[in-house]
Amino acid sequence: ALPRPYAVPLPLPPVLAPARSSGTTDVYEITQQTARLRILPGVKTTAWTYGGTFPGPTLVSRSGRRTVVRHRNELPHPTVVHLHGGHIPYGSDGYPTALILPRSGTASNPYGMAGMPDMSPEAGARDDVATERTYTYPMQQRAATLWYHDHRMGFTGPNVWHGLAGFHLVHDDEEEALPLPRGERDIPLMIADRAFAADGSFRYPALDPAQHTPGVTDPYMDGVLGDVLLVNGAPWPVLEPLRLRYRLRLLNASNARRYRLTLDPPPPGGGGLVQIGGDGGLLERPLAHDTLDIAPAERFDVIVDFSRYRPGTRVRLMNQLGSGSTAHVMCFDVSTARPPADDSRIPDRLSATAAPRPERAAATRTFHFQRRAGSTGWTINGRPYEPGRPLATVRLGTTELWRFVTDFHHPVHLHLNHFQVAARNGRAPGPYDAGWKDTVDLRPAESVEIVTRFTDYPGRFMLHCHNLEHEDMAMMADFVTE
Ligand code: C2O
Ligand code: CU
Repeated sequence: ALPRPYAVPLPLPPVLAPARSSGTTDVYEITQQTARLRILPGVKTTAWTYGGTFPGPTLVSRSGRRTVVRHRNELPHPTVVHLHGGHIPYGSDGYPTALILPRSGTASNPYGMAGMPDMSPEAGARDDVATERTYTYPMQQRAATLWYHDHRMGFTGPNVWHGLAGFHLVHDDEEEALPLPRGERDIPLMIADRAFAADGSFRYPALDPAQHTPGVTDPYMDGVLGDVLLVNGAPWPVLEPLRLRYRLRLLNASNARRYRLTLDPPPPGGGGLVQIGGDGGLLERPLAHDTLDIAPAERFDVIVDFSRYRPGTRVRLMNQLGSGSTAHVMCFDVSTARPPADDSRIPDRLSATAAPRPERAAATRTFHFQRRAGSTGWTINGRPYEPGRPLATVRLGTTELWRFVTDFHHPVHLHLNHFQVAARNGRAPGPYDAGWKDTVDLRPAESVEIVTRFTDYPGRFMLHCHNLEHEDMAMMADFVTE
């Protein structure tokens, strides 16, 4: 039986303190370890975690200050860490074969696929057998809600499903100068569906739980869904907000589920979800939504003003794309306490950044995201992923226009740079395409054009579908910057 919704308080992931700091740098340490967590009532769940919690601890960086994260792997299998939305040099980007090996007994085929060459710069060096890895993030990027998660070649789906995901927030002066809700009224919400066995263990239809062969059993080709919706690791939790504005940093950390979020009841007059930011930070102007479509890996920063509700109202965050248990996400029980005066406001103008100009594009490229013909798996431009065989080579400092075309639902994610959506199906971008993004959702048979400028870091980066089962089943490509 599924647990009762709205029975547990919303947990907040712990904020990780740096192990040490210098004038320019903060150094963090994380041990990847199994942990026995209480997620469902009456049972324990064995999770693979960053530091013993799910979500992992939240890292908080200052734009312009280097963040160094040292990961030690005490899990039973190899891992890779990617900071999603980070503007990161190649060696720290979490290339899918740049593994952190487990301490106990190396897997017989640590790269996941027979004959897979390790294309990482560290390959061949002693690092090849390292059980620790240090990731250096320059943080030359604007304030945004980023997240970190596993990115191991062929096994990202099971690794994230079992708990390897956390928030990484970036702050900057531009954002801090704004009168937005902060502190206890700035809340990250990691939304993820999971399925559980009766004993409380995570249920994932891996072809090979020992992680030698990637992929899932055939009925899950389209992606793995669960019937329990977790927010910050708790099933259908409750938050009791004061009658004030709150900033909610929504992240869809699900493997494959898309949501259409809405507040029920809506506040009088509607427009209850006021978007102020997306994957790549603040929008130019706030954008009020009644519903919000969020695909895997996307982030939406929204302001909800609970003073628009009467004291004691139960406001449910619903998922209009779900049914039964997956139609409910969490609820807000609006406090009956008399709130202090609200010192926050949503300014009309949030941010000004120069948008990349499509007419400046030095190249236009098209990428087709398709099921593999006549076999299982997924492809980009007809090819299953092959490390070291890039589909594009891009000159740093140039702007390019990339067109993504799909057969099925595919949330497409680009590493290295944020982008802006220039067109959807040949027309103006859609209501959820505003601002800087790193993931764009495509429905079946859609096409999207994005514009981005490739900057700073030469190397080998990823373009892939963020449906994690599609990713693991080869819907991924390298691009090279030089
Ligand atoms: Cu969030 Cu390449 O991934
Ligand atoms: Cu896909």
